[in-house]
Amino acid sequence: MKAEIIKMLKERDGYVSGQELCGRLGVSRTAVWKVIKQLQTEGYGIEAVRNKGYHLADMTDVLSEAEIRSCIEGGPVGSRVVYYEETDSTNTRAKALAEEGAEEGTLVVAERQNAGKGRRGRGWSSPPGSGIWMSMVLRPDIEPSHASMVTLVAALGVSEGIFQVTGIMPQIKWPNDLVLSGKKICGILTEMTTELDAVQYVVVGMGTNVNTTGFPEELEKKASSLYLESGKLWKRGPLIGAMARALGEYYEIFMDAKDLSPLKETYEKRLANLNRQVTVLAPKGSYGGICRGIDSQGELLVELEDGTVSRVISGEVSVRGIYGYV
Ligand code: BTN
Repeated sequence: MKAEIIKMLKERDGYVSGQELCGRLGVSRTAVWKVIKQLQTEGYGIEAVRNKGYHLADMTDVLSEAEIRSCIEGGPVGSRVVYYEETDSTNTRAKALAEEGAEEGTLVVAERQNAGKGRRGRGWSSPPGSGIWMSMVLRPDIEPSHASMVTLVAALGVSEGIFQVTGIMPQIKWPNDLVLSGKKICGILTEMTTELDAVQYVVVGMGTNVNTTGFPEELEKKASSLYLESGKLWKRGPLIGAMARALGEYYEIFMDAKDLSPLKETYEKRLANLNRQVTVLAPKGSYGGICRGIDSQGELLVELEDGTVSRVISGEVSVRGIYGYV
């Protein structure tokens, strides 16, 4: 009921009468009033005016299960939303839910993570109030060796969601960091569990710096946020909705093709490394070349000095631009 009330208030410029809310939801005026009170204490600027009804005056950037639900329209993605004020890591929570049988599209969101995980065993700073820390459970019927492609699909989904809400299209640093002005604004951590050579589930964890106003000195040159890049504060609910929806759409295209061939062109348009000199940091040593895009498996194509093309598999290496992070 909470989510429906938020949605009705958001859709109306003026007032929604108590009677209308009661009628649409089939509940008493007291029940509506109780929910309105709850929403006000959660931070929603809802005005209640006698004989007029309710009006959402100032939509503060509140995250809650109801708020997230109200931003996600029907469909398999976000079919279930699990929200935590604070948790260890949304990836850890999503994996636990997947183990218990959570269906594909289950979305786990936290206001704060106290043990946020980054790639390569690193941590991920996840303070409350400024970022989007969320993970999605997927159950792709693909070979485990193909699962790394899901990460590239997620980068497409998150960048598209950001574009739809803010009008700003982040670039992708292969395979899945999102960057603006050469600085990272989003990182993606994909974790997979297999059983008898089949993917049991994949958890895609996405961390986006939205309204972060500053970073510690050691990160300042490499990290940024949507706020720092646009000069505007953004509401996280609509961003979560748009990201989840876009991810779902790209995922469907990927699953129909079982590879990235239909998404390759879109991915390359957003690829920050395209036609730039990159250094590939491989376990057996580093080498340089020019990035020429990706193939249908999501491998990075790097043209070497002798004109041959090396295919770089994600997960095994890291890629750097010669002048810095991108
Ligand atoms: C990276 O190192 O670039 C990946 C960072 C991934 C962070 C996100 S935040 C939501 C989800 N939960 C986690 O613990 N990590 C991912």
